[in-house]
Amino acid sequence: MVLIAASILSADLCILEQEIKSVEAAGADWIHVDVMDGVYVPNITFGPIMVEAVRRCTQKFIDVHLMIVDPERWIERFAKAGADQITIHAESCTHLQRTLQGIRLLGKKAGVALNPATSEDCLKYVLNDLDTVLVMTVNPGFAHQKFLSEPVAKIRKIRQMLDQAVNTKCHIEVDGGIEPKTADITARAGADVFVAGSAIFAAADRAKMIADIRASATQKS
Ligand code: DX5
Ligand code: ZN
Repeated sequence: MVLIAASILSADLCILEQEIKSVEAAGADWIHVDVMDGVYVPNITFGPIMVEAVRRCTQKFIDVHLMIVDPERWIERFAKAGADQITIHAESCTHLQRTLQGIRLLGKKAGVALNPATSEDCLKYVLNDLDTVLVMTVNPGFAHQKFLSEPVAKIRKIRQMLDQAVNTKCHIEVDGGIEPKTADITARAGADVFVAGSAIFAAADRAKMIADIRASATQKS
């Protein structure tokens, strides 16, 4: 089943509640919250109090994407704020398995994100600690960047690795430059969760955009 995650990085934050309700009504499955610390990535965005605010606006699955150094220091705060899934960057984390295990012990889904230049090899020994692998198709830090096609081959390899580990429920999520065409390309490689920020929030008809991404991504594997 294909899932669409709307990234509030591209929402009008003056009217956050309306924006969340709008993408919910338009058919988004998850609300994706991009947390940036100005150290791991060259931008600063949201902290746990933003996740708390989002939690008060919606019952939808809140997908927290941590682009921060030493994410293990923050997982409890984001869990308590109401995250349903917490995704950490493999490159940012000294003890990857310990941190993934820690997220699950807090009762949350655990994800690992890989930058465009990061190999899938780092997943080899944590394949059964994962609910989601997030494959970045831009360098993290900003919305509305150009989709990179090089990570597409990595999606295929990760799908094979997960199948071999018999973790077939693990999602492969793609993030960065996702719109109907790139959803098609990444779905064919094995992605099943599609993060879209600017494509959804800038669309004149958000419901149509979400439906178009979903249609492009459906039945491609
Ligand atoms: C980028 C973030 C993305 C961002 C995607 O670092 O992780 O989630 O919001 O934005 P678009 O869909 O505009 O590429
Ligand atoms: Zn993201």
